[in-house]
Amino acid sequence: MTAFRYAALVLAVGSLAGVIYAAASGAGQSSITAQRFVNLQEGPQVHEGFRRAHAKGFCVVGEFQSSGKLAPYSSARVFQPGQTGFVGRISIAGTNPTAPDLRSPVRSLALSLGRGDADGWRTAMNTPPVMAVGTPESFYEQLSALAPDPATGQRNPQRIQAFFASHPETQAFLAWQKSYVPTQSFATERYHSINAFYLLAPNGQRQAVRWAAVPVAGTGLQAATALDPNDPDALQAEFLARVKQAPVVFDLVFTLAAPTDDEANPTVPWPASRPTVVAGQLLIRAAQSEAEGSCKDINFDPLVLPTGMAATADPILRARSAAYAESYRRRARESL
Ligand code: HEM
Repeated sequence: MTAFRYAALVLAVGSLAGVIYAAASGAGQSSITAQRFVNLQEGPQVHEGFRRAHAKGFCVVGEFQSSGKLAPYSSARVFQPGQTGFVGRISIAGTNPTAPDLRSPVRSLALSLGRGDADGWRTAMNTPPVMAVGTPESFYEQLSALAPDPATGQRNPQRIQAFFASHPETQAFLAWQKSYVPTQSFATERYHSINAFYLLAPNGQRQAVRWAAVPVAGTGLQAATALDPNDPDALQAEFLARVKQAPVVFDLVFTLAAPTDDEANPTVPWPASRPTVVAGQLLIRAAQSEAEGSCKDINFDPLVLPTGMAATADPILRARSAAYAESYRRRARESL
């Protein structure tokens, strides 16, 4: 497929997702649209040509080496024994493309594996294992509460406190936030799908799952090079140095939900006793800046799924797909 046709397909999927999202939230009942989401996320100071969230990042390339252990649960080609190449992006949350790496509360790994309608799989994962809230409306409220006050340019702590007090579903996220200790490297973090998806087995069975990229070296590893706390690109520099020495490896670990787990609610962690399957390993072999690499023009839409996987009814998934498409449209238009 040519790059142009592929971009057209991405836009078509995104537009459809926007319609689906509007329909799912009930026309006339919810006034939250992808446009309003992205307006809120980009804030008053637009960084043209950049993602409206996770604006700062760099590209990675490598391959997924499938163990074949997930094949009984999903017919997707990516989970059969063998290798699938990927282009990915490591980023920090936020709208500022020059933000200091070490100040960001959330780190991320996004992957685009395989290609084409039947085999392509995109996933964007974050360090928290759960979301603070479970609906697009509440997420909009959360972003509004966290946005700087236009009068002072500062966040309003009372507003933030009032938001969390009126949203008890944020408890698991807040507990994670309290216990989370950032590591010394992007290579030693755990990255979570947060939202759940279905694996579709060759025999027609459906299994709800979440997944995580878990560093094989363990999360306690030291930085490959000493981190300079005054360098805004400290983590990026550490990763570029590390990957030149050896591939950076993650296990791709799937957690299988029990029938009692609610796969449509991303705020609730599933019990640690749930079975897990190591689907294989992600080997990152090289990293490049966005300008040099090939990840800048990828929309890591979580609804781009291969045959053998499907979306759950989690309403956040439709909202994400629609908002990513809107952000993509804006940045693509600006950078042409
Ligand atoms: C309603 C909830 C959410 C909204 C509205 C939202 C919105 C966005 C937007 C607008 C972008 C920029 C997309 C682009 O220009 O390509 C983005 C990027 C991203 N989001 Fe979300 N997001 C949401 C939830 C999540 C969740 C739950 C996760 C983690 C599982 C996540 C992970 C990411 C990552 C990793 C990126 C950067 C991907 C890349 O490198 O291109 N987001 N988000």
